[in-house]
Amino acid sequence: MVDTAIAPDALASLLRWYVDQGIDEAVGEDPIDRFALPRPAQAPIQAAPASVTTLAPGAKTSAARPAAPTLLRPSSPAPAARGPVPIESPQVVEDARALAENCNTIAELEAAVRGFDGCALKRTAKNTVFADGTPGAPVMVVGEAPGADEDRLGKPFVGVSGQLMDRMMTAIGLTREGGFYITNILFWRPPGNRTPTLAEQAMCLAFTRRHIELARPKVLVLTGGTSVKAVLDTTETITRMRGKWVNYRMGDGSELPTMPTFHPAFLLRTPASKRQSWLDLLAVDKKLKELS
Ligand code: URA
Repeated sequence: MVDTAIAPDALASLLRWYVDQGIDEAVGEDPIDRFALPRPAQAPIQAAPASVTTLAPGAKTSAARPAAPTLLRPSSPAPAARGPVPIESPQVVEDARALAENCNTIAELEAAVRGFDGCALKRTAKNTVFADGTPGAPVMVVGEAPGADEDRLGKPFVGVSGQLMDRMMTAIGLTREGGFYITNILFWRPPGNRTPTLAEQAMCLAFTRRHIELARPKVLVLTGGTSVKAVLDTTETITRMRGKWVNYRMGDGSELPTMPTFHPAFLLRTPASKRQSWLDLLAVDKKLKELS
């Protein structure tokens, strides 16, 4: 007889390993032995088209991508734009944009986000994570997506990377109590902290763009490659973009000085990069002084 008992510390270390790999959600009550399932018939392999855009029947092509701001960077060529976003249901993005455009205050926008059911991430998330800090503060920080701590508490950047973010902002004299306002491009946690799909980003981005317009900070800080690529609609890497001012043009045509910088979670994994992020924040501090 095979002894199937597993030592508790072996189970605990297996669980820890799962969590480290981002596997921290159960998707069903009963385990499925996928080795025992019949093999699905193999579809013939076809060459994939260079870019696939799936549109809902009858949807307008223009709805496949939310209106992107103009990214202005004087004296350097414009970075490559991201190209069409593959979205299963472009109408959802249109709905999100229409809802967002109708909001005239941050409170209205928050209510619209909380009431929006178009993003499937909402079904697996515990909370809607809208924003924290002071709306109307001189700096607005936009990160990627809530993690486990943020999902549990319903506030952005409250886990270890958020604590690092707070310490760095405090070092240039900015706190959530008046100095900065903070949000993410996604309002719901992607299961297991996976990178949000382009479709999920597009839906939430419609709200985030309006959020930036309504908060009207003096300076926008984008943390991490996902946020930079989405908000600035670029394919450029964070390594190339960080530390250089760009202008984000809002819906009314006004421009917002914007600083792309590394994500604090990246800094926790790569402490040697903190020096560069510190330089980015010093540039933010200088810009705020120039603008005041
Ligand atoms: N990482 C983010 O990008 N946002 C959060 O709110 C937390 C972690």
